[in-house]
Amino acid sequence: MHTQHQYDVLIIGSGAAGLTLALRLPPRARIAVLSKGPVQEGNTYYAQGGISAVLDREDSIEAHVADTMAAGAGLCDPEVVQATVEHGPESVQWLVNLGVRFTRHEVQGKTGYHLTREGGHRHRRVIHAADATGREVETSLVDAVRSRGNIDLFEQHIAVDLITADRIGQKENCCLGAYVLDRGKGRVEVFRARCVTLTTGGASKVYLYTSNPDTSTGDGIAMAWRAGCRVANMEFNQFHPTCLYHPQAKSFLITEAVRGEGGKLLLPDRKPFMQRFDNRGELAPRDIVARAIDHEMKLLGIDHVLLDISHQPKKFILEHFPTVYHRCLELGIDMSAEPIPVVPAAHYTCGGVRTDLRARTDVDRLYVVGESACTGLHGANRMASNSLLECLVFAGFAAADIEARLDETAMPPELPEWDESRVIDSDEEVVVSHNWDELRRFMWDYVGIVRTDKRLERARRRVELLQHEIQEYYWNFRVSNDLLELRNLLQVAELIIRSAQMRKESRGLHYTLDYPGQDDSMPPADTILVPEQARPGKVEHVAVGKVEQLGVSK
Ligand code: FAD
Ligand code: SIN
Repeated sequence: MHTQHQYDVLIIGSGAAGLTLALRLPPRARIAVLSKGPVQEGNTYYAQGGISAVLDREDSIEAHVADTMAAGAGLCDPEVVQATVEHGPESVQWLVNLGVRFTRHEVQGKTGYHLTREGGHRHRRVIHAADATGREVETSLVDAVRSRGNIDLFEQHIAVDLITADRIGQKENCCLGAYVLDRGKGRVEVFRARCVTLTTGGASKVYLYTSNPDTSTGDGIAMAWRAGCRVANMEFNQFHPTCLYHPQAKSFLITEAVRGEGGKLLLPDRKPFMQRFDNRGELAPRDIVARAIDHEMKLLGIDHVLLDISHQPKKFILEHFPTVYHRCLELGIDMSAEPIPVVPAAHYTCGGVRTDLRARTDVDRLYVVGESACTGLHGANRMASNSLLECLVFAGFAAADIEARLDETAMPPELPEWDESRVIDSDEEVVVSHNWDELRRFMWDYVGIVRTDKRLERARRRVELLQHEIQEYYWNFRVSNDLLELRNLLQVAELIIRSAQMRKESRGLHYTLDYPGQDDSMPPADTILVPEQARPGKVEHVAVGKVEQLGVSK
């Protein structure tokens, strides 16, 4: 028997959501933060464009709210949008106080923060640290966390599953902790806590081409689902229009701010095409731009389109886009003199675990914050740079709620150990690697930017088969990082496909040739999947006026 880890709060994930939450909790709380790789590795570190907030006198909360709602295509929760946008300026100030250095510039003899533009925003409202905002934010958060005596960081620790009270025979369900694989020791350990928070990021690795690092395997969404939480709007996968197209460039994004500062999308004959699709041109919301590129690529049989900002002075490009400039140059592309080859790639998971304005889920004492959550902010399409904002604001909401209940919440008793008595070491790792590749390819081909009923059905049958194989593997062999991630990706793929099959219209990021228009004959509805074990009577935070589409897991 191993000693069980015991904390007031267990935070699974160390990106903007997890670390902000850890820092916003009171110093008297003993906190464990887990990351499955190095602490900084996750989407946050790679964020380029910035954080949207109302920071300019010409801008207004109303305008930010209206732009967010317009991008969300009828599915944003107005109360959530209002609360998030209102907390934007304060959240940015909190980062500044922590030491985050945002880009400044001089206007009429005064220095102030430089605000850039991105798709869907009518105003300049994206504060940034050149084109490496995520690196600046994440490293500042990590430094602050390391200096706190009450926070323990566990790197190379991957959570396997949550431990809920019903698993140990209790009637009132709540979250008590998690089983966690210490990748160094190869051993699964128990972490117990008064409250548990999933801040594990998105699931874009379910697609073959993605802007995301390897961490984005939907672990939190899958774990919460297995624990009994509803998930919502999983059909809305955002494809970023402009990822670098180059054989040696795995997952490198060309920030939307390049288009915000005048970059033009061109066909191989150097003709612009975006005006044909939307009068906002290059700054139309991402779903429109990604679909337009996909359309042109398929029509012309080309591998990529071009993004050209070479009309801007080199000094301007170096000042605003040093990371993109240097990475492109390493690969032989000088963006100050020639266009950059780009393609769309899976970028952001708009759906996730259903949460309320306190970041609570259907399972008591379990919170979800950041890209794993579906708060109602993004609706059917996230507006650029609203996600780091959401991480910061909801981490604050969760911290306030956890702090208020911490003293009255009992520490769980000793929990059952992970049982490895009937498993052996895997004899065929190839099953895992083969199924990883197969899953990501058919998700790209059948559940990508443009969908049809037939493609979705094909994908569903294949996921079922792979799930069956991997489930068997999971029960018979010792768990490994790759196996756990694949198991979670398969779960998330199933949720995406089922949600996409339930939506009989095209809306926001979900586009299907079988129902090409938006269905305005009924009020817009979220797609909500309910796991079998979810308890009735826990639906009080469903937004008023929204109709639920119910489905039941296998
Ligand atoms: P992440 O930052 O992804 O962190 C997830 C954490 O969870 C990691 O620490 C990981 O190790 C851990 N984890 C995952 N599973 C487990 C497990 N099973 N056990 C233990 N730990 C686990 N948004 C913006 O608002 N502005 C931008 O400019 C912007 N640019 C982007 C550029 C790129 C290239 C990408 C990929 C995304 C960008 N986004 C941007 C989106 C934004 O970065 C993310 O939505 C946001 O950072 C998510 O933060 P998070 O804390 O939820 O998750
Ligand atoms: C980008 O810089 O283009 C990414 C911004 C975002 O995803 O919000």
